[in-house]
Amino acid sequence: MKNKVYIYRSFERFWHWMQAILIFFLAATGFEIHGVINFFGYANAVKYHSVAAYIFIILIVFAIFWHFATGEWKQYVPTLEHLRSQIDFYLVGIFRNAPHPTKKSVLSKLNPLQKLVYLALKILVIPTMVISGLLYMFYRYPQKGGIEGLNIDSINVIALFHTAGAFLLLAFIIVHLYLVTTGTTITSNLKAMITGYEEIETEEGSNEEKSNKTNLKEEVVNE
Ligand code: HEM
Repeated sequence: MKNKVYIYRSFERFWHWMQAILIFFLAATGFEIHGVINFFGYANAVKYHSVAAYIFIILIVFAIFWHFATGEWKQYVPTLEHLRSQIDFYLVGIFRNAPHPTKKSVLSKLNPLQKLVYLALKILVIPTMVISGLLYMFYRYPQKGGIEGLNIDSINVIALFHTAGAFLLLAFIIVHLYLVTTGTTITSNLKAMITGYEEIETEEGSNEEKSNKTNLKEEVVNE
């Protein structure tokens, strides 16, 4: 049976969209610093990139707190179960109208491939960007102060990590935007991340079904 289920809470949606805007803006200003685009002007791009980076770090601190306070970190524990069938689905099944191999629920809203990729972003790519970005900010120019141990010679390695991470994030964004359209309908995943609600296949007596009934009752009472 299909039910409208409240799957993404308000902070989660706020965090998701803020993160999307910030990463997009950091990529745009970053690639201007890198010399591949020209939009804000180099000096402005550096200034805006630093401001966005600080906002991004504050958002990350709140997001870490939220994940642990709500227990939502458990959604990202990786599993090999159904991983193969999920990959097969994206490579073959999706083009043959095959059903999704895993079902979304409030307790397990990420498929095995998402769990793995999002975990890698959280513990590898984002920390690499933050750490290399901060080192980039505080390395010591020949003519001015900064962290003494991080002098101009270390900048090449820092820039390499930071730029490689930026390309990985860019690749992720492209794949992510495509996968967003592969839900039950083209817009169902997008709508869910905007409104919090998604039509999900639920089983009779499941938690989703019960909480959905409670939500519906609340809506009736509020009307
Ligand atoms: C907290 C996170 C971040 C911090 C602290 C940070 C900081 C910095 C700093 C200080 C620079 C050098 C600016 C200069 O040359 O004066 C830089 C460059 C750059 N940043 Fe970031 N950044 C962060 C996140 C990101 C993200 C998320 C992206 C991309 C999605 C990105 C992409 C770039 C790129 C492409 C460059 C140019 C690298 C080069 O050409 O060497 N940054 N960043």
